[in-house]
Amino acid sequence: MSDPLQAPRGTFDILPEQAPLRLTVEKVTRAVLEGAGYERIETPTFEATELFTRSVGEATDIVQKEMYTFTDGGERSLTLRPEVTAPIVRSYLQHGMHKLPQPVKLWYLSSCFRYERAQKGRYRQFWQIGAEAIGSDDPAVDAESIALLAEILEQLGVQGLQLRVGSLGGSAARERYRELLKTHLRANEDQLAEDVKARIDLNPLRAFDSADESTRAVMATAPLLLDHLDKEDLDHFAQLRLLLDAIDLPYVIDPTLVRGLDYYARTVFEFSSDALGAQSGVGGGGRYDGLAEQIDGPPTPGFGWAAGIERILLAAEGLPEPEPLTVLFVAIGDDDPATRAAGFALSTDARRAGIPTQIELAGRSIKGQYKHADRLGARFVATVSGAGVELKDFESGDSTAFDDRDAALAAVLRGKGVA
Ligand code: HAM
Repeated sequence: MSDPLQAPRGTFDILPEQAPLRLTVEKVTRAVLEGAGYERIETPTFEATELFTRSVGEATDIVQKEMYTFTDGGERSLTLRPEVTAPIVRSYLQHGMHKLPQPVKLWYLSSCFRYERAQKGRYRQFWQIGAEAIGSDDPAVDAESIALLAEILEQLGVQGLQLRVGSLGGSAARERYRELLKTHLRANEDQLAEDVKARIDLNPLRAFDSADESTRAVMATAPLLLDHLDKEDLDHFAQLRLLLDAIDLPYVIDPTLVRGLDYYARTVFEFSSDALGAQSGVGGGGRYDGLAEQIDGPPTPGFGWAAGIERILLAAEGLPEPEPLTVLFVAIGDDDPATRAAGFALSTDARRAGIPTQIELAGRSIKGQYKHADRLGARFVATVSGAGVELKDFESGDSTAFDDRDAALAAVLRGKGVA
């Protein structure tokens, strides 16, 4: 039974007191990425189901168990986006963005939906910031993109960060390696967890992700993909490392880094934070040079990442408290309808003059109104009555009486250093 008074399991309301911190995440992301030439993009909340089955991959947990898929009135199968990379590549192809100077650099802040076991840091609707650079396979794209995420996480005060990088190589090397790994897994099949065993053929690489102890022992002696890459892939990875070294960005090479999406080729990376519990992944991504072809587009290289806003906020420290927005509070000094009208006109004039203003809306006593203005952090209270306007400046402590509201407003503007 669902309860209409409860948000669905794994979802949450973003309450007003949480909104300012999220706005900080958005502002920092925007400043860092737009400063590097990324432009904002927004794609629909739902897409054709096939977009995700083909790109994220049939064998992944996301496609097998986690998608919110439904049929619409026109009998089309649609899915709430579990991630945003495939939709952005779809948009790039649909709008002929290959005609623009390459790479096309796009960023987003979007909600995603995955039917996962809900716990701290893992939700069924969550928000990602992300960046995608499409149209170039230069390792400088990879290095720049990783460095930009590092900068965002640093500016947001995310604690205990560790960066792991790896390379999955191109599809030919990966295919050869998959066969090697399958042979290793089959030879040790009796020691593998059931879910790993069931996926030997479909997705042997995911065995590296298993938490099962006996599976982990088998994986400790497994062949590593990094030892089986083609020369070009090794060169690409070496160039990436050279660039990361040039900016002193610390990282560890993780030859077993597997991500939960199948579209990656060559570079993969992940930032984790030891300030988080079990869900330690703050953000990650990699290169997806084959994705466009998987959804029937022409060969188009791409690189990107996404980071979860909720996890960033869980792992961040020292984010600035938001400044109060209200500058002026208009108090209503008596019950006369003419006084109310004068107060209302004063608040409207103040807003037109660009002063953030609130007005009494709940019939409080004068004392109650002053208390409320204090709670709002207002610097000025203008008390309107039949006698005119009494303006109190809480910064200087001065109180001044004015006959008309224009003069009171001029004083507020002067007090703020505007006029
Ligand atoms: P992902 O690793 O699946 O990658 O997700 C990126 C980030 O989203 C994670 O590091 C985590 O912070 C957050 N996240 C994922 N699932 C949840 C959840 N259930 N609850 C809360 N936060 C979550 C991608 O989505 C790729 N599209 C990244 C990418 C972009 N690769 C290339 N371009």
